[in-house]
Amino acid sequence: MSTQDAGADRYRWVKEGSLGAGRLRFGADYNPEQWSREVWRDDMRLMQRAGVNIVSLGIFSWALLEPRPGEWDFGWLDEIIDLLHESGIDIDLATATASPPPWMSRLHPEVLPVTEDGTVLHPGGRQHWRPTSPIFRFYGLRLVRKIAERYADHPALVAWHISNELGCHNVFDYSDDAARAFRTWLQDRYATLDELNDAWGTAFWSQRYAEWDEILPPRVAPTHLNPGRQLDFERFSSDALRDYLRAESAVLAEVTPSVPRTTNFMVTEVFPSIDYATWVDDVDFVSNDHYLRPGAGGRDELSFSANLTGNLALGRPWFLMEHATSAVNWRDVNTAKREGELARDALTHVGHGADAVCFFQWRQSRAGGERYHSAMVPHAGEDSRVYRDVAELGRTLTDLAPVTGTTRLPARVAILFDWESWWVAERDSHPSSRLRYRAEALDWYTALLDLGVRADVVPLDSCFDDYEVVIAPMLHVVSESVRSRLVAFVASGRELVVTYFSGIVDEHDRVWLGGYPGALRDLLGVLVEEFAPLLPDQRTALSNGATARVWTERVRLADESVTVLATYTDGDLEGAPAITRRRVDGGGATYVASDLGADGVRMVLSGLSADIPALQGDVRAAAGALEIVVRADERSEYCFRINRTDADVSSPLRGGIPLIEGDSDESDVRVPARGVVVTRAALGR
Ligand code: GLA
Repeated sequence: MSTQDAGADRYRWVKEGSLGAGRLRFGADYNPEQWSREVWRDDMRLMQRAGVNIVSLGIFSWALLEPRPGEWDFGWLDEIIDLLHESGIDIDLATATASPPPWMSRLHPEVLPVTEDGTVLHPGGRQHWRPTSPIFRFYGLRLVRKIAERYADHPALVAWHISNELGCHNVFDYSDDAARAFRTWLQDRYATLDELNDAWGTAFWSQRYAEWDEILPPRVAPTHLNPGRQLDFERFSSDALRDYLRAESAVLAEVTPSVPRTTNFMVTEVFPSIDYATWVDDVDFVSNDHYLRPGAGGRDELSFSANLTGNLALGRPWFLMEHATSAVNWRDVNTAKREGELARDALTHVGHGADAVCFFQWRQSRAGGERYHSAMVPHAGEDSRVYRDVAELGRTLTDLAPVTGTTRLPARVAILFDWESWWVAERDSHPSSRLRYRAEALDWYTALLDLGVRADVVPLDSCFDDYEVVIAPMLHVVSESVRSRLVAFVASGRELVVTYFSGIVDEHDRVWLGGYPGALRDLLGVLVEEFAPLLPDQRTALSNGATARVWTERVRLADESVTVLATYTDGDLEGAPAITRRRVDGGGATYVASDLGADGVRMVLSGLSADIPALQGDVRAAAGALEIVVRADERSEYCFRINRTDADVSSPLRGGIPLIEGDSDESDVRVPARGVVVTRAALGR
């Protein structure tokens, strides 16, 4: 079943709560346990002033709620929940299981995760639990039930926040619990050991298994690990956390069936390890956490992640559970956001479908490992740029209330996104260790933005048939069913663009034989006998003006309907095809055999746009200076113009009227540097 079909039934948005219908949600993770009652009262005043209407509460409260096994203290939580409710602020209540209390690992050290080299991850940080531990599950679910029963009827409870960023620090556990659960998972997947041996190619290096008990998680070994086992372990690890999510969700469903349930995903470049396309059906609405990458390209990466999140959510509203008002505390250098970025980032998420804008966290901690992470109320207090910007954003979101509940309009161009290709394409034992799956996908997204073309980033298993152009960057893992879907897509007169190192292996990381790009060779009409990766300082020029880095391939034409769009003009491959296109009844299949970076990709797309109208830019995008995103319902269309530059940009209004920000005359609107203008146009007149 595709993601598109499967998620359709379960969608439920946050309950109306104190706010009533038709308003965007605004708030933060709130950690009142770090503060005195006096500060709580000040928090209520400042939240109201900023327009906060929801908080996620209790995420890291387990040690206070259950100070000793089976001994409960809910008094303080009762108090703050009532105070929030009296202040008109609703609660996305956490199940509080994210970080177990010190007594747990003292009593049960066997819940602690183990790394691939056998190191035990001790308490003292957070998330020190094995996803497959039956003991952790017993205590965790007992706590979930307690909380659910206690607050089931509280009017402030509008959603459940299950655990927190499941797998952020513990996604891969190599313990004996994991070994047992992995074997069970494998027995579900493979009917027999013979099947498993065949899938993993265990004839290689004497790895053949005679008993299930011989199978271990991929712990550190003398050299390259079996790739089939690695891929299955990654799938298993993603599934193991989903099982835990399901277990908490089942308790909540039993006790509070009417309260929607979510968990915060991490759709971002820094977290590859969970295939969220397989989690969407397990939440009532999608939530995401995203942190801006400082410097060049960060803004486009944010848009890419927000767009992908919107497509995981099938175009329906989703919840931005966390982002930062300014600096984080976990990069090498943690820069403050620049003027305008706080609002621009938040509104970019809204453009891509977020109906809730929340931050980590409400008040900047005084102590603990996150004391230098920004918050809505910084150490400097309310007389600060950050708090003023926060309050301003609160007002903007109030003005944007009409956008609530609208869906994002699909683009005409899609970029396929596949978590398994991300995992496998960057595996060790490959022709080059320098390939970067997500960076390649982002280059195509950036190049499309540069040209003023809207694109959707869509999970591989969702329906892409309605797009006019589908781009498959480094789609390395291609099963027979994916191959057939792509063949059918092109046969229906659409355009497919595939990049290097695609179609190479099947779903077990076994190479498709007969020459590369393996599964997609006939569709693309090319044949590659050998890869030609480049050394770090090597570059190769292409006849269309682009420059290849990192990767090239020696391509030969294998079908007479294929034309060469660009050749290499120097180096070992001089004269050989670098970009090809096979024409197929009204559509085509283009192959780009090199890593060209966003600049080179832009040249490829410009070249193709003469033949493919969907690749021609929107004039409102002002030649790529603005990103255009559109949300709509039956009555209105809301166009978000997001300034990608540090200068003011003018954009044709095209019938819209500014809903927020932007000086306009009759024909144009001015979008301030790093600003966002939203216009509204009536539909169906
Ligand atoms: C994650 C966590 C939060 C906080 C932030 C800091 O997103 O969920 O608790 O640690 O990171 O960026």
